[in-house]
Amino acid sequence: MLAAAGARRSIAAGEVVFHEGAASDGLHVVLEGKLRILRQVDPNMVVDVALVGPGEAYGEIALLDGGPRSATVVALEPSELLVLDRDVFLRQLSEAPSLMGAMLGQLTRSIRNSTERLVRGELEQRALRAEMEVEKYRALTEMVAGVAHEINTPLGTVNTASSVVRHRLDSQELHTFAASNPAARELVDDMREALLLIERNIQRAHRLVETFKKLSVSQTVDVLETFNVLDLVNDTVALFRLEARQAHLELRVQSAWSDSAAATCTGYPGHLTQILLNLFTNAERYAYPHDEGGRIDISPGDHVGASDPPSFEITVRDYGRGMTADVRARAFEPFFTTGRALGGTGLGLAIVRNLVTESLKGTISIWSETGQGTAVTVIFPKSLQ
Ligand SMILES: Nc1ncnc2c1ncn2[C@@H]1O[C@H](COP(=O)(O)OP(=O)(O)OP(=O)(O)O)[C@@H](O)[C@H]1O
Ligand SMILES: [Mg+2]
Repeated sequence: MLAAAGARRSIAAGEVVFHEGAASDGLHVVLEGKLRILRQVDPNMVVDVALVGPGEAYGEIALLDGGPRSATVVALEPSELLVLDRDVFLRQLSEAPSLMGAMLGQLTRSIRNSTERLVRGELEQRALRAEMEVEKYRALTEMVAGVAHEINTPLGTVNTASSVVRHRLDSQELHTFAASNPAARELVDDMREALLLIERNIQRAHRLVETFKKLSVSQTVDVLETFNVLDLVNDTVALFRLEARQAHLELRVQSAWSDSAAATCTGYPGHLTQILLNLFTNAERYAYPHDEGGRIDISPGDHVGASDPPSFEITVRDYGRGMTADVRARAFEPFFTTGRALGGTGLGLAIVRNLVTESLKGTISIWSETGQGTAVTVIFPKSLQ
């Protein structure tokens, strides 16, 4: 019926059947040959939409809405087309319900396909962005760790030299000399004061270098061991107890395990301890500042939901001040801190994230609302063997 209603058209190889934006002359069914459907995204870029051959059709959208062509079609080979005029087609459609059904099916399929393509494209984009982000941090942390390593040697030399000066300044000879000479005493006192400043800052630089080195997981060695996660959590809480008491923190471990054997893990216990301590310190400093105190819940358990390999999940939750959306978005960034005045370097969470992803081969996520608190969840495989 449709064949009888349509008109035939022959196309030479390389000939443009129609251009994007042209008025529609209806649906084209390919009888013979091969054609390329493409879109000109910008003057320098052409995107292929599809290749069509015998038995396939295109132009169905313009056929229904009567709008202009949404793509350009070029014949790759000499081709034969059957062109169905819109008015003729619409008339046929009302007379043949089965044609209507087939048409709807075809349209729905193509909508489904393009939706799928869009979603897949978006997911790929997102994965790419996440990967670039991780790469950026990795490069930065490796650089910081490398610089820290380089600074260590001159720092050591300065340290040795300053202890020589300290030794001389504290010597009995100088003491006796200065005791008899007021001008010399003033000189020596000045030097002592300056030396104290030098010593303190060497120590500070040393602490910073140590923290910087921690940023790079490859520089913080830990041995692969089989241990009990629940015991480790309890031990770490005990380790923090003194600080917790001073800051009026109440740490509660809420485990879902009835059998402690379920908490057996083969991984890096030292790194896991470091992760927890960093999170506790943050809760102390930012959730409940100025020793105002409050609750910290630590809930270790099995990770439920689709996870391959089987994983543990530990959440450290406080009910303190929480973070603004801005802070939350940047919390893992190396050197991002809202507490520089309190002695923060902004490396805590960056180190935590590196440890979780590089060492434990896990993932980390943060939930936080101002006034409601913060929850950091770490998910990691039960066994790294
Ligand atoms: N439990 C929390 N409650 C509220 N804000 C938090 C919490 N943990 C982290 N933050 C915010 O995230 C920022 C980054 O934390 P991070 O641990 O990386 O750095 P820091 O604690 O400031 O410095 P460092 O850990 O190097 O001493 C903090 O400055 C703080 O603003
Ligand atoms: Mg911190």
